[in-house]
Amino acid sequence: MKLGLNIVANGAHAAGWRMPQARVDAAMDIRLWRQMAQAAERARFHFMFWADGIAVRHSAKDDEELAYNPRIDVFEPLTLIGALSAVTERIGFVASASTTYNEPYHVARKFASLDYVSSGRVGWNVVTSWSEQEAYNFGREAHMDHDLRYRRAEEFVDVVFGLWDSWEDDAFIRDRASGRYFDAAKLHTLNHRGEVLSVKGPLNVARPIQGYPVIAQAGSSGPGQDLGSRIADLIYTAQKTREAAVTFYSSVKAHGAAAGRDPCSMLVMPGILPIMGRTRQEAQDRFDQLQDLVHPRVGLPFLADTYGDLSHLPPDSPLPPPLRGSNAVKSGHEALIRLGRQPGMTVSKLYKIMAGAQGHNVAIGTPSDIADIMQDWFEGGGCDGWNIMPAFLPDPAIEAFEWLVPELQRRGVFHTDYEGDGTFRGSLGLPRPAFRSRGKPAQSLGHRP
Ligand SMILES: Cc1cc2nc3c(=O)[nH]c(=O)nc-3n(C[C@H](O)[C@H](O)[C@H](O)COP(=O)(O)O)c2cc1C
Repeated sequence: MKLGLNIVANGAHAAGWRMPQARVDAAMDIRLWRQMAQAAERARFHFMFWADGIAVRHSAKDDEELAYNPRIDVFEPLTLIGALSAVTERIGFVASASTTYNEPYHVARKFASLDYVSSGRVGWNVVTSWSEQEAYNFGREAHMDHDLRYRRAEEFVDVVFGLWDSWEDDAFIRDRASGRYFDAAKLHTLNHRGEVLSVKGPLNVARPIQGYPVIAQAGSSGPGQDLGSRIADLIYTAQKTREAAVTFYSSVKAHGAAAGRDPCSMLVMPGILPIMGRTRQEAQDRFDQLQDLVHPRVGLPFLADTYGDLSHLPPDSPLPPPLRGSNAVKSGHEALIRLGRQPGMTVSKLYKIMAGAQGHNVAIGTPSDIADIMQDWFEGGGCDGWNIMPAFLPDPAIEAFEWLVPELQRRGVFHTDYEGDGTFRGSLGLPRPAFRSRGKPAQSLGHRP
C-alpha cells in the first residue's frame, strides 16, 4: 500500500483550524512544515502532496462570507518543496501545477530543476484548474471552458514531456580537454507547433534525474480519465464508498490498458480523512465537535456552484433543484447533486458533508477501524494506496504517523522502509521513463544565419 499525505492549507476539514488544539497558522509556518516532512519521512510515507491554484479560490458571495474561509494564505508549493527537500532524504513531494494558467516551458523548467534540487523526489499533479478566480489573474474575463481546458492539458503535457526530452541522458559530456560542453547529436529541439501551443525548446535544464518527475492526475470526468490513463503514474480520486472505488479502479485500469499502459504502473490513490480516537466514542466526539464548528458562511459556498446562493433558506430545508451545468468540477458537481437527492438531506447536512472532506471518504474510529477500511479497499481492488488528509494540523497528521502506520505495518500491508534507488519513482516501484526522441534530432537552436 502506498501512502501520501495530502495537505490542504490549515487542514482538510474546513472547520479543523477552529479546534482548540489546532495550529491556526499552520499553512504558512515553515518550521512546522520542516517538522512535518521529517516526521512523515520517519513514518515512511511515500510522499507529501499539495493541491494548488493561482488565486484565492472560493465560491463566497462577498468578502464578508469569504472572511470565514481558512484556505486563503498558502505557500506556493514548488517554493516550499525546495525548502523541504533540503531537510529530508527519501520522501517524495508532489505539487499541483495548472496547465490552464501556466506556460509549459515554466512548468517543465521548474519541475526539472526541483528534480535535481531534491535528488529525484518530485512529482507533478497535472490539473486544469477548477476555479474561476484563476482566470481573472491571467488577463481573462472567464474561466476557460472545461473541454478546451482538457484539450490544452493534453497538448501541454506532451510539450512538457518533449521539453524534458530536450537532452539525452548523457548529452552533457563537459569535456575539459576538447572544450566541448555537450554532444550536439544528443540535443533534441522540440519545435512544437500545435492547436494551442507553440514552443521551440530546448529546455535549459538537463533531462530530469527521474527521466520525468512522477506524474499525478485527478480528473474524474471522461476527458479527465482519458488524460490520466494516458499519462499518470498516480491517479488521485475522491470516492466515498468501497463499491464506487472498485468501479472507478477497474475503469481506470481498463482505460490504461486500452491506452497501451501496464495497469500496474498506474497507482490509484483515493483520499481519506481519518478522524481517530483511542476509542470509537472519542473519535465520534471529535467528529461531532468538528461538524459543530462548521459556520454557515464557510459551508454555504461549497454548495453555491451547484445550487446557487442558499443563504436565504433555513438550514434544515431540503435542497432546491440544482443549477444546470457547471464549468467548474464536473464530477464534483454530479456527486453533489446525487448526495442532495438523498432522502432527508438538508442544506446544512449537505454543506457539513462537503466541509468535512469535499467528497472524500471520512472515516471515524480507532486506528484499527481506519486500518480495516484502508486494508479492505486495498485488498478488494479499490485502490493501490491512500492520500491521507489530516483534518487539521498537526495532531491528526502525527496520529497518522504514530497510530495508523504501525497498525498497517503490523498487518504487513505497508512497508517498513523505503525501497528502490533513492528516487521517488524508485520508492513507488515505477520504472524510469526512457528518453524518447520526437524524430527531430539536433535541430537548430535559432543560431545566427
Ligand atoms: C485529490 C485531488 C486533488 C486535486 N487537486 C487540485 C488542485 O490542486 N488544483 C486544481 O485546480 N484542481 C485539483 N483537483 C481537481 C481535479 O484536477 C479535477 O478538476 C477534478 O477532480 C474534477 O475532474 P474533472 O474536471 O475531470 O471533472 C484535485 C482533485 C482531487 C481529487
